[in-house]
Amino acid sequence: MRLLVCGGAGFIGSNFARIRARDHGDDVVVLDKLTYAGRRENLRDVEHRFVHGAIEDPAAVAEAIDGADALVNFAAETHVDRSIAAPDAFVQTQMEGTYALLEAARERAVRYVQVSTDEVYGSIEEGSFTETSPLNPSSPYSATKAGADLLVGSYVHTYGLEGAIVRGSNAYGPYQYPEKLIPLMVLNALHGDALPVYGDGMQVRNWLFVEDFARGIGRVLDHGLPGEAYNVGGPDECANIEVVRRIVELTGADESVIEHVPDRPGHDRRYSLSSDKTRALGWEPQVRFAEGLERTVAWYRDNGWWWEPIRSGEYRAYYERQYGRALG
Ligand code: NAD
Ligand code: DAU
Repeated sequence: MRLLVCGGAGFIGSNFARIRARDHGDDVVVLDKLTYAGRRENLRDVEHRFVHGAIEDPAAVAEAIDGADALVNFAAETHVDRSIAAPDAFVQTQMEGTYALLEAARERAVRYVQVSTDEVYGSIEEGSFTETSPLNPSSPYSATKAGADLLVGSYVHTYGLEGAIVRGSNAYGPYQYPEKLIPLMVLNALHGDALPVYGDGMQVRNWLFVEDFARGIGRVLDHGLPGEAYNVGGPDECANIEVVRRIVELTGADESVIEHVPDRPGHDRRYSLSSDKTRALGWEPQVRFAEGLERTVAWYRDNGWWWEPIRSGEYRAYYERQYGRALG
């Protein structure tokens, strides 16, 4: 099929585009604004046509969507800490951008998949969220993602758009921008920088290897029902402090580099998804967290060409603002 991948120069979108072009033979078009998080290098081994533009720009969307059978929307501002510091770009991309894509998909009867997050359900102390759990987002990031989900639902209900939503848990793996927990800790450990753990570090996340997430999204694209949401959760839960200790072991760093720093405002304690509905489509995660983390540490260790320009650019200034200290 001809597949438009919005936000395909980012972490999950580029992994998804690679799998669809390589394993499914899809004719991939990527539409991406190339924010700090989007990089052409992420797609260097992916056959695709690239359109540089914002999803909230109808002209760029029209150019990219021409002839598409389906559209998968990954494009978003994605980092919770940045949403707390400056929510405006989150509202613009998630709300206005999703709106522009929905309009274009509706006019042309293009199948639509919205990539969303477990964070729209909020925090859960025990048990797991299903797709019918109420939306209860905590941060500007998750609130704008929930708003986008509701807008997608309204286009299905009102205009008969053939649209579905995929809600994934915490993804990790190659090509993830180092503002996120795992790559940040891996690169800091490899450089001898402190590892900043928010609060007590007992917050729990449901870790999902990026290729498993990409395959789950593909399953919904190929077999999901219009109007439905599908959870795609990782096979293992782990407290942040345990993740960081394991990274210390895998990188050969010293435990003394772990440093507890002030907690994130409004920090969600635990996320957990039930993915039975997506499993019923024939998907299941293949990579356990222990294996995926080893593979991820090895990838960052071996791919300095990818992260060296990042650690010397915008990321350094961001890191100083966020953590009140410079990277070494
Ligand atoms: P990312 O930050 O790595 O990449 C986002 C991509 O979107 C970048 O290429 C960026 O340039 C592009 N983009 C941003 N604003 C844009 C705009 N206005 N127009 C066009 N392109 C724009 O993000 P990611 O971690 O790959 O996340 C992809 C999607 O998956 C997001 O929708 C996110 O909410 C969702 N998600 C992420 C996770 C996770 O753990 N990373 C988990 C569940 C869901
Ligand atoms: O759950 C899915 C979500 O996972 C996605 O929707 C988001 O786009 C993605 O950013 C991610 O959100 P989190 O806030 O869970 O991920 P992050 O990597 O920022 O943080 C993971 C946990 O680690 C969280 O409890 C905060 C903590 N943390 C994070 C950083 C960056 C630290 O303790 N120290 C840090 O320096």
